[in-house]
Amino acid sequence: MVGNWTIKKAIDWAFQYLERRRIENPHLNAELLVSYVLGKTRLKLYLEREHLLFAWELSLFKELVIQRSHYIPLAYLTEEQDFMGLKFKVTSDVHIPRPETEILVEKSLETIKRMVFPAKSEERLDDFVIIDLGTGCGNIAIKLANELEKSKVYAVDISLKALKVAQGNAKFHNLDKKISFLLGDLFFPLAHLKLEGKVNLIISNPPYVSSKEMDNLPLEVQREPKVALEGGDDGLSVYRRIISQGARFLRKTGFLALEMGYKQAERIRELILAQEELCIPQVIPDYEGMERVILTKKRA
Ligand SMILES: C[S@@+](CC[C@H](N)C(=O)[O-])C[C@H]1O[C@@H](n2cnc3c(N)ncnc32)[C@H](O)[C@@H]1O
Repeated sequence: MVGNWTIKKAIDWAFQYLERRRIENPHLNAELLVSYVLGKTRLKLYLEREHLLFAWELSLFKELVIQRSHYIPLAYLTEEQDFMGLKFKVTSDVHIPRPETEILVEKSLETIKRMVFPAKSEERLDDFVIIDLGTGCGNIAIKLANELEKSKVYAVDISLKALKVAQGNAKFHNLDKKISFLLGDLFFPLAHLKLEGKVNLIISNPPYVSSKEMDNLPLEVQREPKVALEGGDDGLSVYRRIISQGARFLRKTGFLALEMGYKQAERIRELILAQEELCIPQVIPDYEGMERVILTKKRA
C-alpha cells in the first residue's frame, strides 16, 4: 500500500489530470482505468472508495493515465473492447470496433432472418456462407458466426497483425473452427475457394477516410492503423472494388452490406446502381439519423 492513495483519490487525481489535457469524458476514463488496474467493476469502485492501492497498482495506473493523456485510445490501454455483447481483444494493430458497426451487423442479421430463412427458401441453415472483408479484430465475423450457428465465415484482412488478433478472438469465443482467416487484398485470397455464386452475405466496414482528411482526424483516431482508415483520394477506393467484384460471389438470394462514412451514401448508391448485377440499394440511418449502412441484393 502507498500512503493514502485510495480508489477515490486515484479517480479524483486522474480526472483532474485528464480534464486539464482535454481528454473527453475524463471521469469515465479515470474510473475505467482504475477498474482495469484493480480488476474491479465500476460498481465495486463506488462501494470500496476507501480501498488502498498497492504501490505497483498505483504506478501502473499513473502510467496508463499519462498514456491516455497522450491520446492513446482507452481500448488500446485496456486491450479490450465490447461489441454487441461480446468481448474482443484489441491492440494498436487493429481498428477499434465502433457502436455504429453494430447497426451494420444488426441490419444484416435482420435481413438474413427476413430474406433467407422464410419457409419457402431453398437455403439451408448449414449452407450459410459469409465473407467479411477487412475483418480487423474479427468483431463482425465472430458476432455473425456466434449468432448463425451453422454458418461458415471467411474473414479477410490485408494486415497479418490484425488477422492474428482476430484469430485469437475467434479462439477465445470458441468459434475458430467456423471462421477461416485469410490474408490478402479483398477477394484475392478467396480465389482458389470456388465460392463464386455460393455466398449469402458479403459484409464490410472498409476504410473510408479520404487521403486529404487523414490529417484532420481526431488525434485519438490517428492512433489507429492507417490501413484501417484510409480509403484513397476520395475515400471510396475500397467500395469501388467491393461493389464491382462482389456480385459474382453472391448466390441468388445473396446480399451485400456495407458501412459508410459521413456523406458517402449518395456516391456509394451510384456505384451500386451502376452495377447491373445488383438491385437498387436500401440506405439505413444510424441512431443520430446519419446514413450509415447500405444494403443491396443480387439481381435475380
Ligand atoms: C475500418 S477497419 C474495420 C475493422 C472491423 N471489421 C470493424 O468493423 O471494426 C477496416 C479493415 O480493413 C482492412 N483492410 C484495408 N484494406 C484492405 C484490403 N484491400 N483488403 C483486405 N482488408 C483490408 C484493414 O486492415 C482493417 O482491418
